[in-house]
Amino acid sequence: MNIAVVGLGHIGLPLAAQYASKGHRVRGCDINQRVVDMVNAGQAYDDEPGLEARVAEAVAAGLLTAQTNTADAVRASDVVVVIVPLMVDAEKAIAYNAIDSATRDVASGLTAGTLVIYETTLPVGDTRKRFGPMLAAGSGLTVNEQFSLAFSPERVYVGRVFEDLKKYPKIVGGTDADSTRKAGEFYRAVLDAEITEVDNAETAEFTKLAETTYRDVNIALANEFAAFAEEHGIDVLQSIDAANSQPFSHIHRPGAGVGGHCIPVYPYFYANNTRFADVARLSREVNDGMAAHVVGRLDSALVGLSGRKIGVFGWAYRENVKEDAFTVARRLVDELTAADAEVVVDDPLYTADELAAKGLTPYQSGEALDAIVIQAMHEQYADCDWARIPGLQVILDGRNALRTDQIPDSVRVIGVGRLYIDA
Ligand SMILES: NC(=O)c1ccc[n+]([C@@H]2O[C@H](COP(=O)([O-])OP(=O)(O)OC[C@H]3O[C@@H](n4cnc5c(N)ncnc54)[C@H](O)[C@@H]3O)[C@@H](O)[C@H]2O)c1
Repeated sequence: MNIAVVGLGHIGLPLAAQYASKGHRVRGCDINQRVVDMVNAGQAYDDEPGLEARVAEAVAAGLLTAQTNTADAVRASDVVVVIVPLMVDAEKAIAYNAIDSATRDVASGLTAGTLVIYETTLPVGDTRKRFGPMLAAGSGLTVNEQFSLAFSPERVYVGRVFEDLKKYPKIVGGTDADSTRKAGEFYRAVLDAEITEVDNAETAEFTKLAETTYRDVNIALANEFAAFAEEHGIDVLQSIDAANSQPFSHIHRPGAGVGGHCIPVYPYFYANNTRFADVARLSREVNDGMAAHVVGRLDSALVGLSGRKIGVFGWAYRENVKEDAFTVARRLVDELTAADAEVVVDDPLYTADELAAKGLTPYQSGEALDAIVIQAMHEQYADCDWARIPGLQVILDGRNALRTDQIPDSVRVIGVGRLYIDA
């Protein structure tokens, strides 16, 4: 098959490499010339495990090339996979610019007989009602008659993409039965995973919104349990683990909040389009409120934050990934600054210049701090000797990730819903 992958990001490039590894001719499309040049040189700009070798191999075999001209790549393809991001803006409105623009480019190269699949997480109905008409208008072709259209959510986790591509069932739903069938056939040819064909594109779209909203709601519940546990002198992790020994209980872990461009975003794709989403909306509020909650605990522990020097450790939204979309670190910095603390930020995955360019003050090694908030427990922190930070009184472990043997006697540790704290 000739396949075009539109958007060579954290997910698109691994997908392109995966399809090429099955012997197909893949054209990757991206508006970023640097990305295109690197891929054509056989390099991955991302440190996804296994990606560099797969890209090098596919490019050397002549099965993978990259280009900025999407229409040309689409014209040469039997199947087009769209995987450019869709996010919400500061007002939680959905910002369609990137995916609309990619869709217009796909439309202008679309020829009869092509199958177009959206993998970007979408609000329910967008494949059929938004992109179907755009593709038809731009190509002059009729959807379901002259080209096929489907949605298949991408469910992998950055850092273990190739593992997940094998493991997670691939959910596929088309805008008609023939599109569903063709998309199912496509994925059987390019993946090793089980393929699950559902009734239609809307069912497939809703699957992804349901699984991500479920996680957000579950985390919000765990966060409220953590706050309750703090009030009652209970270690919430003991209660959660004990509760989860009952097979119907699947309570997630509490923390300082939820970051990344999936979990804090997709509940809005769902909630913005329905009046039946009270639980999802409230959960978003609870999770967004966790940064203020943990800063409040730190305030009690230090008996006031004004004039205190606090290090936020882990700018990335989660451990071991250089990605800061919707990172809770931003909220923590804002809350601490509003409380008149002096805030510095550390992250071994970012250079001091990169942090400074985001308007942050980078932490300088050896600098004295009154307290640290751990927001992402990068592996570089695993063997950190916290006692060597001059003046350190408190660590607020926002991820409940410190090992007991890592906690120095001289430092008081506060977790989220943990007993050993008592702030
Ligand atoms: N990153 C994740 O953890 C994750 C996990 C599962 C699913 N997803 C899905 O994958 C989507 C993409 O995520 P990502 O992490 O790969 O994004 P990313 O930001 O890493 O990459 C997106 C790429 O798309 C390119 N792009 C933007 N506009 C374009 C256009 N008009 N034409 C061609 N290319 C364009 C960008 O230059 C960039 O290289 C997400 O929106 C989400 O739906 C992401």
